[in-house]
Amino acid sequence: MGYNGRLLAKARARLAEIREENAAEQRRRLDEACAKLPGLRELDRGLRRQMIELSRLAMRPGAGSELEKLRAENLELQKKRAELLVSGGFPIDYTDEIYSCRLCRDSGLRGGEPCSCLKKLYNRQLTQELSSLLRGGDESFENFDLDWYDTAADPIAGASPRDCMAIVSGTCREYAKNFGPGSPNLMFMGGTGLGKTYLSACIARVVAEAGFSVAYESAAAALGAFETQRFSRENAEGEQAAARVRDYLGCDLMILDDLGTEMVTSFSVSALYQLINTRLCENRSTIVSTNCSFEELQRRYGGQVCSRLEGEYLLLRFIGRDIRLLRKERGI
Ligand SMILES: Nc1ncnc2c1ncn2[C@@H]1O[C@H](COP(=O)(O)OP(=O)(O)OP(=O)(O)O)[C@@H](O)[C@H]1O
Ligand SMILES: [Mg+2]
Ligand SMILES: [Zn+2]
Repeated sequence: MGYNGRLLAKARARLAEIREENAAEQRRRLDEACAKLPGLRELDRGLRRQMIELSRLAMRPGAGSELEKLRAENLELQKKRAELLVSGGFPIDYTDEIYSCRLCRDSGLRGGEPCSCLKKLYNRQLTQELSSLLRGGDESFENFDLDWYDTAADPIAGASPRDCMAIVSGTCREYAKNFGPGSPNLMFMGGTGLGKTYLSACIARVVAEAGFSVAYESAAAALGAFETQRFSRENAEGEQAAARVRDYLGCDLMILDDLGTEMVTSFSVSALYQLINTRLCENRSTIVSTNCSFEELQRRYGGQVCSRLEGEYLLLRFIGRDIRLLRKERGI
């Protein structure tokens, strides 16, 4: 996965905060225990001096016997401290260093590679930007309500909107639960107010919580970012746009909402092609939602884009009556 430098810097800064919080908590615990146990402070200082001396000796060639002696003294002192702590009713490791991640001891690195904890923090940064885009914030599979969809058969689909949408939402739920490398691409197609954005938000939440990087953007804004990075290279706005474009191309799941509402230019068509095609070639999953039919997509974006959307995406058709209008009619 490619990392966006700006988000990685934020993730590292968060890790530094975590280290600082843990160090503060360790100091607090030590003060607390020292207040109760006379002699602990002196023991602790002695241990610290020994640790410094130990690491100094360890680097000096030929310090073998001296090192052995100091190690033994160190163990002895650790034992004394442990006994003292336990006698005061504290856990044996109460004043030890605190690590949020045992794997990398909060360094963020393991064998020169980013540790899983740093990746989680990175994805959380990405997801924070995502959640500011997810409107009300209560979109979840649990809140998804099938009652909004009619039970009378739809003449074209041959089944009721409720039955169709039960399958669609069930597919989305399974998709989110099982998301991983090689997950298919999805195409949400259907009229306005039928829950396309709602279900994308549900998927985004679950997938991001599982630790994958997710980007969510309307087609207008996403394609706009391609344009900005292309035409204002030398300024901050251009750099921001370039970072966003890297997210769109490199994230584990990209949700491109409302395709077909943005203005079509030859530039936006080529940007869309680049986005769709790059993600296909690199085997990254994408969800596209649109009000357009394939004929309209063909007309707007041409065969190169449309054949990819038709051939490489799992089509989910949204049917029913506009829930926005229904809510208004019912005053909800
Ligand atoms: N199953 C559902 N249960 C409860 N509320 C829903 C459900 N589906 C959609 N809504 C609500 O209905 C409204 C319209 O849904 P949404 O925005 O997802 O439609 P859409 O298909 O994306 O429409 P458009 O094509 O206009 O973007 C939103 O306020 C959404 O919160
Ligand atoms: Mg929508
Ligand atoms: Zn770690």
